[in-house]
Amino acid sequence: MKPTRIVSIIGTGSYVPEKVLTNHDLEEIVETSDEWIHSRTGMRERHIAAANQATSDLGTEAAKAALADAGIAAEELDLLIVATLSPDMFFPSTACFVQERIGAKNAFCYDLGAACSGFLYALDTAKNQIISGAVKTALVIGAEKMSTFIDWEDRGTCILFGDGAGAAVLQAGGEGRGIMKSVMGSDGSLADLLWIPGGGSRNPVSHEMIDQRQHYLKMQGREVFKHAVVRMTEAVIEALEKNNVTLDEIKCLIPHQANIRIIGAIAKRLGVGDRMYTNVEKYANTSSAALAIALDEAVKDGTIQRGDLVALTVFGGGFTWGASVLEWSK
Ligand code: ACO
Repeated sequence: MKPTRIVSIIGTGSYVPEKVLTNHDLEEIVETSDEWIHSRTGMRERHIAAANQATSDLGTEAAKAALADAGIAAEELDLLIVATLSPDMFFPSTACFVQERIGAKNAFCYDLGAACSGFLYALDTAKNQIISGAVKTALVIGAEKMSTFIDWEDRGTCILFGDGAGAAVLQAGGEGRGIMKSVMGSDGSLADLLWIPGGGSRNPVSHEMIDQRQHYLKMQGREVFKHAVVRMTEAVIEALEKNNVTLDEIKCLIPHQANIRIIGAIAKRLGVGDRMYTNVEKYANTSSAALAIALDEAVKDGTIQRGDLVALTVFGGGFTWGASVLEWSK
């Protein structure tokens, strides 16, 4: 395959599990209230996967929807990346499970770990694989079963997350500028502000580790909040500059769906007002799936139309962050 300069998204899809957990339902689980959650986060409800649904099952549904939207067969995929922090198991990769389920037998497959920033990292990685000429068509999925990894006794975190998956099919070519240049960053010195400390090689599975609930997500919310606002705002500004695009030209800005107050603070700093897309009220924070689901919804509900310039920005554990700009051409 020849190197190319344009890479376009030719289809998107998303999936959320059937079960809805409202803020009022959470009042039965921990000491909290709908008023507290909504005023602090903008969330009203989130979807929770069934006990027999793994992350790859959610990703598979989103993948099928994206392939149908793109109008291509799974056999046409050369590359399949799943961004997730809640894999089915340590190995094989969740991507391999999705590959098997959708029949993408010609793709090479791997997972990408960048916490909530994973989908944008994967989008950029796949785009560059296509630009290099190594692959022609790629499927990028953000999929999470966060409900497995959150501590349902910790009201500071369990109210924030939901399960779901989103996907995009990328292909060489297309009209317009396609997926443009991205800005990515990481800061490992802040890892302990947002992590799952137990269960890996640092702190392996043991009765003691589980008794200490170290296998669940831990977060210092206020610190995360501050860094998320600063990093996403700066990343958007840098990405616009890198692509010679002004904020006025952006039709829609899709941020990581972590908290309506984080999104509001970024909107205020950038001065983008109601061009900020949000669905955090319905799904809460679905980590790496959040941007993918929001992109799919923004396309399907007509917010994003052919020829529109769209900015994407993410922030997550690591810390990791990034921003990108694309011209929608479907
Ligand atoms: N219900 C009621 N009260 C609560 C709850 C709850 N669910 N959770 C905490 N509280 C209490 C606390 O105990 C505390 O009480 P105290 O004052 O008596 O000690 C009080 O509310 C204030 O707690 P804070 O944690 O200081 O509340 P804050 O206003 O910072 O809001 C929140 C907390 C919503 C978590 C906020 O810090 C936040 O959104 N941070 C960013 C989190 C985030 O988005 N993380 C993910 C980003 S990256 C990624 O997606 C992985």
